[in-house]
Amino acid sequence: KKIKVFAPATIANVGPGYDILGLALEGVGEHLEIELLDSDAIIIHPIPEYPDLPLSPNENIAGIVAQAMLNQLGLKQGLSIKIEKAVKPGSGLGSSGCTAAATAFALNELLDQAFSQLELVEFAMLGEKATSGKAHADNVAASLVGGFCIIKSYHPLEILNIPFPKELRIVVAHPQIEVKTADSKKILKKEMVLPDVITQMGNIAALISGLTTSNYDWIRSGMNDLIAEPIRSYLIPGFAQAKSLAMETGALGCSISGSGPSIFAFCENENQAKEVGDKWKQFYADLEIDSKIYLSKI
Ligand code: HSE
Repeated sequence: KKIKVFAPATIANVGPGYDILGLALEGVGEHLEIELLDSDAIIIHPIPEYPDLPLSPNENIAGIVAQAMLNQLGLKQGLSIKIEKAVKPGSGLGSSGCTAAATAFALNELLDQAFSQLELVEFAMLGEKATSGKAHADNVAASLVGGFCIIKSYHPLEILNIPFPKELRIVVAHPQIEVKTADSKKILKKEMVLPDVITQMGNIAALISGLTTSNYDWIRSGMNDLIAEPIRSYLIPGFAQAKSLAMETGALGCSISGSGPSIFAFCENENQAKEVGDKWKQFYADLEIDSKIYLSKI
């Protein structure tokens, strides 16, 4: 028995929602194939473009997630896992989350849907913990559930899937430098003062209300972050200028995607997204930084 699945890349945090907001990018992501073997070995095939990714099932994200699922069921089952990465690890687009989500979903199908969707998110979170040291759910939930997700609670895990304006477009610029989530998590402050907490809560409330009622002014006013962006932006060359370019073009908001270095902008429609994308392409070219631009729906 075998299955091939696609898991979307994701934008985590989405401005003010550190570790609690995530959205899935339509059409950008990775393919993963799992086949049940007659042996009990888990074989992870090398990915030619990424020779540094570990292939041992105890270290590889797909291996870690698959083993946890099999262990839970008390099964010794051999697997062959082939991963086709479209998004580079360390991009801030949930590359490791894609692998974890794809593995959890695909293996569950081969196991006759032994687990619920929420359980699959929890298994996929083990992959995130192995990569970044923290079992954050924002990338894997968005990749598994799709659309726009809120992690309402971690203990117990509770995920809400909210509506958003269908014409909304996302532009992503991925400057080809690597930022490790583990590193960019460590630099964040561990505490926040009450006035900042109040501002941040107001921003999240405005963003979510704006998304669910298609109120673009509220989205724009909510897309401000006091937790991650002010600190992480130092790791991302040209962030402030790239953000200004997007906002001057009329974007509804712009922030860091996950832990960076990718950045994203919310746009009202396809044309605005193209315009921001073109400006960013030129901007990074002027900085002599290679970049990839993605235009996507949620
Ligand atoms: N919420 C996580 C973080 C996502 O910002 O560290 C990592 O992609």
